[in-house]
Amino acid sequence: MGKINVGILGASGAIGEVYRSLLQSHPYFCLKFLGSASKSTKEPLHGLELFSVEDVETALNLGVKILFSGLDNETAKKLEPEWAKSCLVISSSSAFRQKDRLIFPEINGDKIVGKTKGIFAKTNCTLHPIALPLKQLLSLGVLRVSATTFQAISGAGRQNLSAMDIFDNVIPYIQDEETKIQEELNIVLEQTIPLNITCCRVPVLDGHLVVLDVELEKFFDLKEIYRLFSLEPSIQILTEVDRPQPRLDRNNGNGMSVSIGRIRKGEKNTLQFVALAHNRIRGAAGTGIKLAEMAYGFTQPR
Ligand SMILES: NC(=O)c1ccc[n+]([C@@H]2O[C@H](COP(=O)([O-])OP(=O)(O)OC[C@H]3O[C@@H](n4cnc5c(N)ncnc54)[C@H](OP(=O)(O)O)[C@@H]3O)[C@@H](O)[C@H]2O)c1
Repeated sequence: MGKINVGILGASGAIGEVYRSLLQSHPYFCLKFLGSASKSTKEPLHGLELFSVEDVETALNLGVKILFSGLDNETAKKLEPEWAKSCLVISSSSAFRQKDRLIFPEINGDKIVGKTKGIFAKTNCTLHPIALPLKQLLSLGVLRVSATTFQAISGAGRQNLSAMDIFDNVIPYIQDEETKIQEELNIVLEQTIPLNITCCRVPVLDGHLVVLDVELEKFFDLKEIYRLFSLEPSIQILTEVDRPQPRLDRNNGNGMSVSIGRIRKGEKNTLQFVALAHNRIRGAAGTGIKLAEMAYGFTQPR
């Protein structure tokens, strides 16, 4: 099979920027179409002309089969269904994160296999360092989870957060984030996990770090936890006492790993650890591309 022609909607945004970079020399996909509102730029990006995000006709004439969308919620709701009539749309927004469309590659990646049209959504970026380790702990019975997130500024989009607000600061609130994480966690793990979570924005460029405290039903020792985490190839365990750190560890596994460290046993059968994932690669564009590879059979789901 030759390379498949693909496009990006929201090409000028924070996610669009990473999609452009990852698709520059992709083994299976050829980047042909860039769509943007062009409020931020009218210049060609990576040598490609910018078209309107509504220009389905041009994209189809260019042979585009897959659209990686980095559109905001409202625009996604309006435009992605139109594109999905003729292409596979991988959505980044929360507009289409319902059961059967919401895909987490290591958990329910099989749902996208063979799909060449329609809308499929990635989860919220912060779910990656939460859902992947919790999936590994399900066999021990997850009774309750407490989490505090430390989320990078790029997660807010390219122009949505002023330097005056975040520099030298921590903002202990991200609109709708806590509800989205709870809902999406239950969808992808197909069970209700009691979760108390507080989401904070911190002055880090990329990389969402989460401190987790998990109460488990079955008695465990740390050897067993290390064993369970190491069974998942996308998890990288760090044993240094002061890791993971966004600047040092967000690019582990080419930005696709969830790095876990500070694994400790607490009181009453609780487990504590810190997990980190690159929000724009693992949490967005890297996973979007992986889902498209699974749809077309280039990568096998596990
Ligand atoms: N940033 C992350 O880490 C992350 C992770 C996972 C999921 N997401 C989700 O991914 C989506 C994109 O996030 P982002 O951070 O890349 O946002 P962003 O930096 O604000 O980019 C949004 C993109 O959408 C375009 N756009 C906005 N309004 C438009 C309109 N009315 N018509 C056409 N195009 C329009 C923008 O074009 P202009 O530049 O021309 O305005 C830009 O290209 C959001 O739904 C977000 O929740 C983000």
